[in-house]
Amino acid sequence: SQSESLKGKKVLITTGGTIERLDPVRYLTNDSSGKMGFAIAEAALNRGAEVTVIAARIQGNPPAGMNVIRVESAEQMLQEVLARFDNMDIVIKAAAVADYRPAARAGSKMKKTDERLVIELERTTDILQTLGERKTAQFLVGFAAETEQVEHYAMNKLKRKNCDLVVANDVSQEGAGFNGNTNIVQIFGEEGRIDAWPMLLKSEVADRLLSLITERLRGKEAR
Ligand code: PMT
Repeated sequence: SQSESLKGKKVLITTGGTIERLDPVRYLTNDSSGKMGFAIAEAALNRGAEVTVIAARIQGNPPAGMNVIRVESAEQMLQEVLARFDNMDIVIKAAAVADYRPAARAGSKMKKTDERLVIELERTTDILQTLGERKTAQFLVGFAAETEQVEHYAMNKLKRKNCDLVVANDVSQEGAGFNGNTNIVQIFGEEGRIDAWPMLLKSEVADRLLSLITERLRGKEAR
């Protein structure tokens, strides 16, 4: 319907798991497949939005017909997102971004020496928080992958990172979170928990999420 349309809206979505390299052949990453982010991208395209996806490590190939920029690390994702953020209407951060990266990256393959090896890690930049500080009119949606006290941590993220919505998944639940075709999410806004959806296909989560975003964006524009 007309009210569900995102025609003319620019939407930026991040997806996949970042890769933080230790040496030329080894890296730290996580189980994100990119499915959640690409499902949101498909749903946004179906509503007529102009969609850009920044994708780190994903399973398989990106769906055809969308503008996809490939990155590896949290730092590269940050740069690609920042280069586009100011022009966007909606930004949705479904990517699983590393919180830490190796403090040093070896130029050649690390050799085995001692029985134990300690790898020092340093913090990456929090992309979502950076966007929250920089945002003007953008509608900013963060994800939260939690295993306990979902509401508490989700609301905390929403406030600290200045998000309009946070989509929280309890990644310890069967059928939720990383890699599968389904997710179980709760949606938080500044007023608290807005909704809790049952286990749904990621495509259905994406569709409901975009309906909610569209409705809230209209409300924001009308104010
Ligand atoms: O890709 P799939 O296999 O389909 O799996 C989907 C998913 C489980 C990855 C997805 O639903 C999800 O929860 N994504 C967020 C995972 C995550 O990193 O959560 P977090 O609670 O650690 O981070 C919170 C938010 O901050 C996220 O929006 C994340 O993109 C962002 N972040 C985190 C760290 C960092 N350095 N920069 C960030 O922007």
